Amino acid sequence: MNLMVFGAPGAGKGTQAKFLVEKYNIPQISTGDMLRAAIAQKSAMGMKAKKYMDNGELVPDSTIIGIIKERLEKDDCQNGFILDGFPRTLAQAQALDVLMKESGKELDFVLSFDVPDSLIIERIAGRRVCPKCGASYHIEFNPPKTKGICDACGAELITREDDNADTVKNRLLNYHKQTAPLIDFYKKMGVFAQIDGSQELSKVTKDMFQILG
Ligand code: AP5
Ligand code: MG
Repeated sequence: MNLMVFGAPGAGKGTQAKFLVEKYNIPQISTGDMLRAAIAQKSAMGMKAKKYMDNGELVPDSTIIGIIKERLEKDDCQNGFILDGFPRTLAQAQALDVLMKESGKELDFVLSFDVPDSLIIERIAGRRVCPKCGASYHIEFNPPKTKGICDACGAELITREDDNADTVKNRLLNYHKQTAPLIDFYKKMGVFAQIDGSQELSKVTKDMFQILG
C-alpha cells in the first residue's frame, strides 16, 4: 500500500501515520523528521534546511526531491510506504508522480486531515515530541503515560524548535499558499480522501481505517 498523509502543520499527520505503520508494517517517510535528523547530525544539508525551518518557510524543492528519491529507492519501501509532509508544492507533487511512474508504482490513497487553523494553534502549542523515535504527544489531548517520557522508546520528550507562535503563523500561511493547492491535483488523480481531523484522535483513526477498508 502506497499512502500519503496530508494536511496543515499540526493536523495530525505524524500521529495517524504511526497507526498505519503498525497496521501495514510499512515505513513512515516524514521529510520533517529526516530534516531534523540531518540537523541533529549537523550535516551541510541540515544546516541549510534549519534556516528555512526556523522561519516556517519551506526547504527548497531540489533538496527535498533529492532526499525523497534516495529514500524511496531503499528496500523497506518496496512493499509500500507512508509519505508524511511530502509533497508540499506542485513541483514536488509532479516530481513524485514521475518517480512513481518510473518505478511502476501508484499512490493508493492521499489521506487528508482537515483541521481549522484555530485548533491547529492549540494543538501545536501543547505538542511534545520524541527526539529519538519521532512520536508526537499533546500535554492535554494525547499525554504520554509518564509525564515528559516517550511511551514508545523511553526518551525524554522535547518541544520542537519551530513550534513557537510566530513560526506556526508562517507555516500555516505557507501551507495555504503552497500546499493546499495540491488538494485539486490529487482529487483529479482520484486518490484523495478527506477526513475530519478536528475530531478526537481515536475517531480520526477510525475514519481513516474505514476509508482504507
Ligand atoms: P513537518 O515536521 O512535516 O511539520 P508540519 O507539516 O508542519 O507538520 P507537523 O509535524 O507540525 O504536524 P502533524 O500533522 O504531523 O501533527 P502531529 O501528528 O504532530 O515539517 C517541519 C518543517 O520542515 C516545515 O515547516 C518545512 O520547513 C520543512 N519541510 C518538511 N517537509 C518539507 C517538504 N516536503 N518541502 C519543504 N519543506 C519541508 O499532531 C500535532 C499535535 O496535535 C500533537 O500534539 C498531537 O498529539 C495532537 N493531535 C493529533 N491529532 C489529534 C486529535 N485528533 N485531537 C487532538 N489532538 C491531536
Ligand atoms: Mg509531523
